[in-house]
Amino acid sequence: MNVFVYPGSFDPVTNGHLDIIKRVLPICDKLIVAVLNNSDKVSAFSVNERVMMLKQVLESEPKIEVDSFDKLLVDYMRLHEATTVVRGLRAVSDFENEFMFALLNKNQYPEMETIFMLTNQKYLYLSSRMVKELAMYGGNIDEYVPAIVKEALARRYSA
Ligand code: PNS
Repeated sequence: MNVFVYPGSFDPVTNGHLDIIKRVLPICDKLIVAVLNNSDKVSAFSVNERVMMLKQVLESEPKIEVDSFDKLLVDYMRLHEATTVVRGLRAVSDFENEFMFALLNKNQYPEMETIFMLTNQKYLYLSSRMVKELAMYGGNIDEYVPAIVKEALARRYSA
């Protein structure tokens, strides 16, 4: 069984993430979308809120499990007998970090692989950070996030 892990902050999940998930599903048996529980990083949403939003938007897909983790990604993968990490690649600026991260992980856990999905062109410059900034200042984010995320952002940044 080919278990893939799609790790990330997902603060919050965007249509760019969902596009990667939709495209990777046909090539795995099970996909674990894993939210990093990182207390060092200031986030807009708690890990619980991020997991709940992902669960709501992905609930109709039986191959997907949504989880959180607070350890090294390689340890989480071993625990779940996962073979492959999935990461999305946007502009060239993502590449160096992702390359380093993939090599570090491979060094720690040689049996695993990292695969990169190139982003859909329309999400080339989309990021959770940009979505939060747009939402904070009243910009239009309709094409970037699912409706429930838009509502959660409106609640977060109201008043
Ligand atoms: O969405 P992000 O913030 O780009 O995701 C980064 C993430 C969660 C994939 C990465 O920071 C991660 O897996 N962290 C877990 C800790 C770890 O394994 N670090 C590797 C040593 S550098």
